[in-house]
Amino acid sequence: MTALTQLLARRTPGHALQQPFYTDPDIFAADMETIFYRDWLFAIPACELVKTGSYVTYDVGSYSVIIVKGADGVIRAFHNSCRHRGSVICSAAKGTVPKLVCPYHQWTYELDGRLLWARDMGPEFDPTKHGLKPVHCREVAGLVYICLAAEAPDFDAFASLVTPYLEIHDLANAKVAFQSSIIEKGNWKLVWENNRECYHCAGNHPSLCRTYPEDPTISGVAADGNFPPKVEAHFQRNEAAGAPSRFVLDDGGQFRIARMPLLDGAESYTMDGKLAVKKKLGRVPFNDSGTLLMFNYPTTWNHFLPDHSLTFRVTPVGPQETRVTTTWLVHKDAVEGVDYDLKRLTEVWEHTNDEDRIVVENNQKGINSPAYQPGPYSKTHEDGVIQFVDWYCRTMAERTDPKAMAAE
Ligand code: FES
Ligand SMILES: [Fe+2]
Repeated sequence: MTALTQLLARRTPGHALQQPFYTDPDIFAADMETIFYRDWLFAIPACELVKTGSYVTYDVGSYSVIIVKGADGVIRAFHNSCRHRGSVICSAAKGTVPKLVCPYHQWTYELDGRLLWARDMGPEFDPTKHGLKPVHCREVAGLVYICLAAEAPDFDAFASLVTPYLEIHDLANAKVAFQSSIIEKGNWKLVWENNRECYHCAGNHPSLCRTYPEDPTISGVAADGNFPPKVEAHFQRNEAAGAPSRFVLDDGGQFRIARMPLLDGAESYTMDGKLAVKKKLGRVPFNDSGTLLMFNYPTTWNHFLPDHSLTFRVTPVGPQETRVTTTWLVHKDAVEGVDYDLKRLTEVWEHTNDEDRIVVENNQKGINSPAYQPGPYSKTHEDGVIQFVDWYCRTMAERTDPKAMAAE
């Protein structure tokens, strides 16, 4: 038995994880190998790549990936490692290029990854054998996912389930209004645990609590599939008007989608609860249709609102360091200063992200103490956290247990 398997076997269900899960470099490496290098990862909203040759780089653990829009409009992903001697090709976080040119010896690749030009490599050299290595890349309703594994797991079940919910948010006609990228000095699982409950909201999120209910039936996973009459009525009203809403949790527990009500009368995440953008993104039937909540472990949670959408991306940087990237999407024709005010659009989640950073960092600091002992989660308020931690432990056990591997 490996140390990881022993720790997984020893855990107390319904309790926070033992210290090494949040601190140990070997477990961090196992998380990367076992989850982040194998699963589909949300990377960017497709509209971030505005034109032919627009690219972003996305670093995940030891990998660096280029995501680029081709002349045919298709978004592709490649390993950011030159087929000559391995230099990174794109060193910037984003940009627009006519071709992908390695800065070292100028090997030049087409936007679809083919090697076009390599100086003085002799007659034996076959450029068709030296194209950029592709990374699996799929787009669902305007969201781009990548997978670093040689063989990617199924994506279609997720894509077909969420597409009807997302379609009415019309991300094909979105643009990026603002993006923030913050470092939280905490393990990636603490970032997720914090996200999966609102037990902490009343004490930490004065801006968010103006519109977002701390009610655990909204943020949790309602494992029994039952919702209070108010939420049930909200599902029915929206669905009758053509907005898929009903809560769905994937069998394996990896993703969840549901359109949930905001507090009475609230329309969007603003300080006064009214819409932030006059020219709305999407065709949601009512201004008070609530927020379409979607998470997909291990990298993303999202809020799709009647006037704008928010994507969040969680990227582990180290055992005690996680990058959280938030992107605010508005209609591509919405004009800043006319249809929306940027501060009004972003302030609630700018505050909330910073407040979450502080609670995650405090959580990590306390866990680092030798006196830390995993405590019980609240069954009322933290069923979402229990669900996340169970998903994590089950996934790690199934994928790292040699017996399970042998049986595959
Ligand atoms: S390493 Fe890229 S051209 Fe030489
Ligand atoms: Fe929070």
